[in-house]
Amino acid sequence: MAEKFTVTPWEVKGDIDYDRLIEQFGTEHIDSALLSRIKKHTGGLHHFLTRKIFFSHRDLNWILDEYQKGNKFFLYTGRGPSGNTHIGHLVPWMFTRWLQDKFGADLYFQLTDDEKFLFKNELTLEETNSLAYENALDIIAVGFKMGKTKIFSDIDYAKTLYPHALRVSKKLTLSTVKSVFGFTDSSNVGEAFFTSMQSVPAFLPSAIAGKNIPCLIPHAIDQDAHFRVSRDILPKLGYYKPAAIHCRFLPALGSGGKMSASEKETAIYTTDSPEAVEKKIKKYAFSGGATSIEEHRKHGGNPDIDISYQWLTFFEEDDAKLKQIHDEYKSGKMLSGELKMILIEKLQTFLKEHQRKRESARKVLDKFIIRD
Ligand code: TYM
Repeated sequence: MAEKFTVTPWEVKGDIDYDRLIEQFGTEHIDSALLSRIKKHTGGLHHFLTRKIFFSHRDLNWILDEYQKGNKFFLYTGRGPSGNTHIGHLVPWMFTRWLQDKFGADLYFQLTDDEKFLFKNELTLEETNSLAYENALDIIAVGFKMGKTKIFSDIDYAKTLYPHALRVSKKLTLSTVKSVFGFTDSSNVGEAFFTSMQSVPAFLPSAIAGKNIPCLIPHAIDQDAHFRVSRDILPKLGYYKPAAIHCRFLPALGSGGKMSASEKETAIYTTDSPEAVEKKIKKYAFSGGATSIEEHRKHGGNPDIDISYQWLTFFEEDDAKLKQIHDEYKSGKMLSGELKMILIEKLQTFLKEHQRKRESARKVLDKFIIRD
């Protein structure tokens, strides 16, 4: 049966059934036994875990087994610099920061300026490379540890990355990349090669250290196809398969699916002004409220489809506050406009702080970037 949704690294659309994705991709649920195991090491659980925003994984039990034996893992995540950062991108990064804090892990952060040049007709290599450094400010603003975090552009760190990417690509056939990514005969040849670059940071620290180090990759589920390839090939090169932990998408304001940088009105960017945040949410946030105030008071709203409420499940950390909002909205006591105002104020405060840190990041950018 054809699915009603599509999730690939380059296209996300439709009404996503996350349980079905777990089956389709062959990943595993994060169950309560695994949550207790994580909690043993971290003391508490991030609300992204308790609310199942991070909902799926590959080999997380193995990562914890190794950790318990004293074999620490490193973290690896990334960004394809095709434009400004939006608040959906921050979701895996905030969680990665939490993991870094709790497990004292080193982090490799890849900026795939090569990818965005190859996949976006309208962008030049100079533009994606310069966007990489703009995006790096957002990454640093998330609060990663200086000295434990290495950020690099594929283009500017190519001397180190390229020989390893060649080793990956030699084990990768055209027929595999066609079937995994859906490339056709009219795709450019760089696209077929690119996934080799995205595999490299998953074993680079092992290659440098001359011994295998476990790798954990936090990301939204759209990137999984790349790491299916990595998991197939890395053991053939003598390295561990990377483990991964996957999140859902912060939906777009209007239509659900995922927030996408190419849909400007329904995305909130990290650089948006308080006025822009207010305007976009008031105008575009899909409401689960009834059609009139009378109807709403009588029947209440539907938080499950209300985008403002859905966004608060990502950005309101306080469980008690979130529950109160949920109950008041569902009962009809709280109106859609009031719910939107709660979200607007939450995001305005969040972004004010983020923008302050983003500006300070300019001064320390060089301490995070590696190049060769
Ligand atoms: P990119 O730039 O599309 O996305 C960066 C990260 O954000 C996740 N993401 C989202 N998460 C929650 N809600 C959303 N609406 C949303 N949109 C995007 C992505 O899954 C990703 O984790 N090829 C990659 C860059 C990359 C990478 C990596 C990503 C290189 N190495 C390792 C993750 C892990 C890309 O274009 O990501």
